[in-house]
Amino acid sequence: MKEIQILDKTFTEFISEKEISDRIDMLAEQINNDYKGREVVFLGILNGAFLFAAELFKRINIKAKISFVKLASYEGTKSSGTIKELIGWNEDIKNQEIIVIEDIVDTGVTLERIVDELVIRKVSGIKVATLLFKPDAFTKKIPLHYIGFNIPNNFVIGFGLDYDGYARNLPSIYTLKNK
Ligand code: IMP
Repeated sequence: MKEIQILDKTFTEFISEKEISDRIDMLAEQINNDYKGREVVFLGILNGAFLFAAELFKRINIKAKISFVKLASYEGTKSSGTIKELIGWNEDIKNQEIIVIEDIVDTGVTLERIVDELVIRKVSGIKVATLLFKPDAFTKKIPLHYIGFNIPNNFVIGFGLDYDGYARNLPSIYTLKNK
């Protein structure tokens, strides 16, 4: 069993590079079929989705563009705590079919924020592709159309996902080792 130490924590390999690649092949095939003859704008959510977005996008053969946005935290002027703002919009996405690309959907709070913004921007359709999904942590009712892997509610790293900024470069996915 492959193990890796990141800062103070030990992780064990959970989903191999080959399993990830095979699954992305299947997701891309589904998307290529579902959107045959149509045009789509992929919207990757930084930072975590950069690797999944690249691997997925390479396999897309329909007419497509890709763009990235980032959720930036800033302190609100009121005492309501941290507010997240989506920054980096550089495509006119009005009336476009959008596929949001996420690395992981956990509670769904981030995704809801993104979907709300897309609705405001009057896109013509929204689908969601996520490499990982934690169904037990999900608190929203947003449909997820393309899911790589349903996983337990444990902390994972690798393939774009970080622990305190590290481990995004790992080619496979690791989960926190049980003590
Ligand atoms: P949500 O808003 O709770 O769905 O969380 C979404 C974001 O939290 C993801 O885009 C990740 O950046 C981060 N996140 C959630 N779970 C994990 C995890 O297991 N490992 C690393 N990051 C995670």
